[in-house]
Amino acid sequence: MIYSYKNNSSMLDKILKNFSYSYEEKEIYNIKVKYFIGEYWTSKQRQAHSLHEISYRACFKPQLPNFFIKNFTKENDIVYDPFLGRGTTLIEAILLNRQGIGNDVNPLSKILTEPRINPPTYHEVEARLNKIPFHKNLKADIDISMFYHPKTESEIVSLRNYLLEKENNLDKIDKWIRMVATNRLTGHSKGFFSVYTLPPNQAVSPQRQIEINKKRNQHPEYRNVKELILKKTKALLKDIDIFYNYPKSYLILTNDARNTTQIKSNSIDLIVTSPPFLNVVQYSKDNWLRCWFNGIDIKSVEDKIFITSSLEKWNNFMYNVFKELYRVLKPQGIIAFEVGEVKNGKIKLEEQLIPLAKNIGFSIEGVMINQQNFTKTANIWGIKNNIKGTNSNRILVLSKKG
Ligand SMILES: C[S@@+](CC[C@H](N)C(=O)[O-])C[C@H]1O[C@@H](n2cnc3c(N)ncnc32)[C@H](O)[C@@H]1O
Repeated sequence: MIYSYKNNSSMLDKILKNFSYSYEEKEIYNIKVKYFIGEYWTSKQRQAHSLHEISYRACFKPQLPNFFIKNFTKENDIVYDPFLGRGTTLIEAILLNRQGIGNDVNPLSKILTEPRINPPTYHEVEARLNKIPFHKNLKADIDISMFYHPKTESEIVSLRNYLLEKENNLDKIDKWIRMVATNRLTGHSKGFFSVYTLPPNQAVSPQRQIEINKKRNQHPEYRNVKELILKKTKALLKDIDIFYNYPKSYLILTNDARNTTQIKSNSIDLIVTSPPFLNVVQYSKDNWLRCWFNGIDIKSVEDKIFITSSLEKWNNFMYNVFKELYRVLKPQGIIAFEVGEVKNGKIKLEEQLIPLAKNIGFSIEGVMINQQNFTKTANIWGIKNNIKGTNSNRILVLSKKG
């Protein structure tokens, strides 16, 4: 049954009273669940802060955590994301003057997030880049010549050597440079160090890049590493103003989300997160170059990151994650758990999670579906296409009754 909001007093009804949405009640494993379908946030309504502009596989838009942080917390409350990714929730929490905790088993997550919480100034970055020795004629210990002009390769290797040698003594300026360089390694425009390739969160294999180069009849051109880092720095810092509130405290962990003993029980006001989805994303395929640059052993990371295409294994993992989230959440605390659409919507992951959450003791507040229609121009292999579609986020909202 679908009907508009009338007079209902649950928590989500109250929060959503100023929005127009359609409402549906479904029975899932004998549990009555409210569905609220509307357009609660769009990228057009509110431009996201420039600090977010770092790509990451399966990241959500900043407008999503912004909605929940604004509506469910007040200043200085503690916001947590157990699957931090590029840091969207933590950065949005800091921008809204909340305290933030983030966790992700992938060490690249901390490398990409932490520098943007305490950003240096453009001039500090410029001065540091002028001090770092950029040598000529250095070669990487692996063959990356299909991506980079020899001069660019030498600059990347110089920067990598500097960062790895200083590893335990990197200050916030070095960490910023490392974050930007990691993001600029490969991509599909002249703003990246590499010749044309896939977007930056999906580095291809060397063999595949050789094929792309042949097909496009291209050779890596020289790209100036220092200039590109400064250009991206300027873009990321664009919205930082004198009112930027440098956070007094924040915490970033690299644990398994099922085991975060550093976080006190009953301490978190709000969790906003999206877990690893049910799929077979090959971590090493996408991240080998980023890991190489940062001196990270990709095998050790791959063993820790949860990847499965088995619904049963996914449910089991999520059950244990929920147990841990229940522990750290304050009584009356809220979780907004975003699950993507899997297999073209045939599997609705929130339906899997609802009985697990109920079993642990959570109250099921409802499922919010944010639906946004879009038209975008995609440029794949040099061909422009107008793609129309719907971007939908499915968010399971839970609370811990005190
Ligand atoms: C869908 S992404 C989160 C994206 C994030 N919302 C953002 O905006 O960037 C899921 C994340 O879960 C992390 N992850 C996978 N297994 C994990 C585990 N066992 N514990 C903690 N994090 C894990 C992955 O590294 C990935 O960054």
